[in-house]
Amino acid sequence: SITPVILSGGAGTRLWPLSTLAQPKQMLTLSGELTMLQTTAARLADAARFAAPIIVATGAQADAIEAQLARIGCTPAALILEPVARNTAPAIALAAMAAPDALLLVLPSDHAIGDLGAFREAIDRAAPLAEQGWLVTFGIAPERPETGFGYIMLGDPLAEGVHKVARFVEKPPLAEAQRMLRERGYSWNAGIFLFRARAYLDAMGLHAPAMRTSVAAAIAAARRDGARVLPDPERFAAAPAESIDYAVLEKAERVAVVPVAMGWSDIGSWDAVHSLGAADDRGTVATGDVIALDTANCLIRSDGPTIAALGVSDLIVVATGDHVLVLPRGRSQEVKRLLDAMKGRT
Ligand code: GDD
Ligand code: MG
Repeated sequence: SITPVILSGGAGTRLWPLSTLAQPKQMLTLSGELTMLQTTAARLADAARFAAPIIVATGAQADAIEAQLARIGCTPAALILEPVARNTAPAIALAAMAAPDALLLVLPSDHAIGDLGAFREAIDRAAPLAEQGWLVTFGIAPERPETGFGYIMLGDPLAEGVHKVARFVEKPPLAEAQRMLRERGYSWNAGIFLFRARAYLDAMGLHAPAMRTSVAAAIAAARRDGARVLPDPERFAAAPAESIDYAVLEKAERVAVVPVAMGWSDIGSWDAVHSLGAADDRGTVATGDVIALDTANCLIRSDGPTIAALGVSDLIVVATGDHVLVLPRGRSQEVKRLLDAMKGRT
């Protein structure tokens, strides 16, 4: 069976003020009852396919993660706690070294997948190639020239519904994203990967050998406490901070892609939360203590005070106990500018 690896890191700046360093977006309930982390774990509650997951997370999240998973009856096989964040390539290597013989399905903790049947079918298509040592990615049909994603150029077919990756382009500049959208033949990288742990570690040994050495040393000197694994802080900190995309996938030889339509979304902004939320008949999504009269196409969310709004349209309003965010729809990728502007204030 397949061992899922759930990545739970990140600073969660784009969904401020709700997400913060202490509580990044995967720990939050953005729509429905479950947090994104719980939704991700629940998606894998399928004993015929999946073993208990390995969670790789920022050390500070440990208690919250265990509590959230316990609430949905999920007992992780291991909870690997990073002493410092070193991005996804070292994080995934920690899991691969903890389970070197396993077939790993690496998943972000903060994505929505609407069509579970399509998700499972894509994994079944990918598994034979992964067994043979391919690093398998999942490709989503691009909808816009998004610069925050990786792009995959489909190459020759390897099997029914599986292609060799001709080229992998992580986070292109806008002009290149626009060109790839026009030219077709490209998919977005879903950020979900299936491979043998050993195939990943071998590729890392070739393309990022210093990273592999540091992570191996950190795992060899790890402390263990029940399911918790605490890699050695100094040795892990010596690993270069790079994503799997830059450190391994752009360079590796045997990379495959399974194109899949599964209602995938990286909920990375308030605009995305609006588009996925349950809207009223005039397009407003209201969550929490909100009174909205005669509004259109707004996202209004309170986790604090009552928000009373009248006669406004195309606004994003998000309130917590401490902060209120107001901006027009379409500009939620710029929230980080506000955070930068607030730095240095107390
Ligand atoms: N444990 C751990 N440690 N997890 C991490 C770390 C880390 O240091 N850094 C990031 N993560 C987790 C995040 O919480 C998220 O669940 C996942 O790994 C991906 O990291 P992101 O930082 O969200 O990556 P991205 O969105 O910029 O880009 C990736 O995902 C895109 C699709 O959403 C890339 O794989 C792109 O190619 C891809 O298109
Ligand atoms: Mg992401």
